[in-house]
Amino acid sequence: MTAFPLALTYDDVLLVPRRSGVQSRGDVSTASRFTRALTLAAPIVAANMETVCEARMAIEMARVGGIGVIHRFLTVGAQVAEVERVKRAENLVIVNPYAIAGTASIADARAEMRLRDVSSLLVVDEAGRLAGILTTRDLVLSPAPSDRVTLHATPLDRLITAPVDTDTEAARELLHRHRLEKLPIVDGDGRATGLITMRDLVALRDRPLASKDARGRLLVGAAIGVRGDWIERSHALVAAGADALVLDIAHGHAEHAVRALEQLRSELPGTQLVAGNVATGDGARDLCLAGADAVKVGVGPGSACTTRIVAGVGVPQLTAVLDAVAACREHDVPVIADGGIREPGDVAKAIAAGAETVMVGNLLAGTDESPGVVVKRGGQKFKVYRGMASAEATRVRMAAEGAEPQEGTELTQVVPEGVEATVPYSDGAAGIVGRLVGGLRSAMSYADARSVAEFHANAQFVQITYAGLIESRPHDLH
Ligand code: XMP
Repeated sequence: MTAFPLALTYDDVLLVPRRSGVQSRGDVSTASRFTRALTLAAPIVAANMETVCEARMAIEMARVGGIGVIHRFLTVGAQVAEVERVKRAENLVIVNPYAIAGTASIADARAEMRLRDVSSLLVVDEAGRLAGILTTRDLVLSPAPSDRVTLHATPLDRLITAPVDTDTEAARELLHRHRLEKLPIVDGDGRATGLITMRDLVALRDRPLASKDARGRLLVGAAIGVRGDWIERSHALVAAGADALVLDIAHGHAEHAVRALEQLRSELPGTQLVAGNVATGDGARDLCLAGADAVKVGVGPGSACTTRIVAGVGVPQLTAVLDAVAACREHDVPVIADGGIREPGDVAKAIAAGAETVMVGNLLAGTDESPGVVVKRGGQKFKVYRGMASAEATRVRMAAEGAEPQEGTELTQVVPEGVEATVPYSDGAAGIVGRLVGGLRSAMSYADARSVAEFHANAQFVQITYAGLIESRPHDLH
């Protein structure tokens, strides 16, 4: 009989404890690379799915040390707006803060604040020089909508401002001394080039592990495909500040996917590029050679995937990760283990197998931060979770790419490889990430690992039987 290679997944194995000098889980650092150039304190990535990650999720993920990838089932403009929302959420210095002419009306100012989702606007004169600041506090007592902005704004002569080279410490001191919330940064010509806010300085103090770029803005990824407007989309997302592009197609080892990556690499040489999905060492190697800064691994492990049922294709996820890691190590490219994470222990096993981050869909889809509304059934709360290759999601994506199926399109051209379902409404994303990272820390302490690199070196698996799996779960309880 022909012997086939054995392939395993998370439930098939356990991590073996070993003599460990780690005294507390607090001694362990879970810092790990998302891409070659981007490191996260919490190696958890929110999946680029329309029921998982838009700006709200990405902001929360970055605040707790992970990252979110904005899905691509949106028009280019709408996806860019999501990225901009994340990049504007926190800053050291807000560059080119939103401003309004002093001659504009209060109604205009209110509309602008609502549109931009901000609590203040700088006021400028005809020459573009700073003339004051208008905040929501100035609007509390309902000034007439037709009044001029200058009538209610704090004028320049009562404003505290700071010069262009002001550092964080000096800004903090000024804000505290004058009990201010906003500090405009003004250049030699009297133009406001930036704005430092108390909120941003408090966030910096309270969340030192947040994932940030050099300008203190939260990190965010954005997904792209390989069809339609993908090149225009890529450039627009990078211009909007996306820290990584995720070239994401079901069969990342298709010739056209590899060629698309090569093209993107030459068009955007300075951009971090994640590519996937693959499930083999060969697939991972080809993406490394084509210029990937991280390889996303997983064909069919996702909870809403039906690829393995519909196409009969896939590789159980632990083996897929192990094989991809072996290939990626030769190129020093990190692996993202994508899909199939049900418990914190699965994160630990994925990282132990050599992945540097894990991508999570299902577990985050039920949180407040995911797009979509809470629905009730039988008194319990749920949110909708939809596979990206489900029939409904495919229709949404085609519409966003301007490629709606025409009358008479053969149905066989659109075979769903995903399902739509509901998942229980759960904690906020921060709680989920905390639980996943807590499990990882615990696993690392059992393996005498203070860093992810040590965990990769020390981790040892045993394969278990079905009896072992039953023993592993709570049992014989009433
Ligand atoms: P979890 O298990 O966290 O997995 O829900 C999330 C990952 O599942 C993948 N995904 C799909 N795979 N058909 C597929 O074959 C689909 O419709 C589908 N939707 C999502 C994706 O990699 C995601 O990150």
